[in-house]
Amino acid sequence: MATPNGRVPVVAVPKGRLLKKIAGRLELAGVDKDVLLRDDRSLSRDAGPFRFLLLKPDDVPTYVEYGAADVGIVGRDVLMEREYDLYSPVDLGVGRCEMAVAGRPGALLSDREGPLRVATKFPNIATQYFTRSNRQIEPIFVQGSVELAPLTGLADLIVDIVETGETLRQNGLVVHEKICDISAVLVANRVGLKLHRDAISPLLTHLRP
Ligand code: PRP
Repeated sequence: MATPNGRVPVVAVPKGRLLKKIAGRLELAGVDKDVLLRDDRSLSRDAGPFRFLLLKPDDVPTYVEYGAADVGIVGRDVLMEREYDLYSPVDLGVGRCEMAVAGRPGALLSDREGPLRVATKFPNIATQYFTRSNRQIEPIFVQGSVELAPLTGLADLIVDIVETGETLRQNGLVVHEKICDISAVLVANRVGLKLHRDAISPLLTHLRP
């Protein structure tokens, strides 16, 4: 449904696990779930009253902040790592997991001279967390497969998302400290939300837990 400014509302969503989890709720808001979850390489999809942009999770808030998307769905971890100018997030209560410090058993007792090395996709979250308890670390930025870092000597610890704990278990690692709970949130561009309020409101209704 095109709104007065002549285009359909644009929704930025992360490709992958989270999208599958919220697809059922999006369907209640009139979204064609099959189009959204179709296994092909198209990145922009018109599905019911919305256009969806399928993005890497880290890019969702950027598209919304700059108005290339009106609303977005993203894990709170992404919002914690960097600051964005976005309308107050609504917690969707899905995609629940935790941010944790993990490593080999006993890794916190490492006898490394100098700061512990911490591999992570979230260097700011990691540094802030350890700083709060007066511990200095050397954050090492990695993009994925973070669990390999302590196994290969790249780092002493990791700071990462733990959902089922299966990846840690299968790689012989354990959680040492929980940093915080994480879940998916809805973020909005202030102008986009105003322009498309009527069209977006069913989305807000059905996405709320
Ligand atoms: C995430 C995260 C962990 C894993 C945790 O990685 O970085 O590696 O999921 O999930 P689990 O506790 O259920 O095993 P993702 O699958 O997104 O892949 P990545 O390693 O490429 O980041």
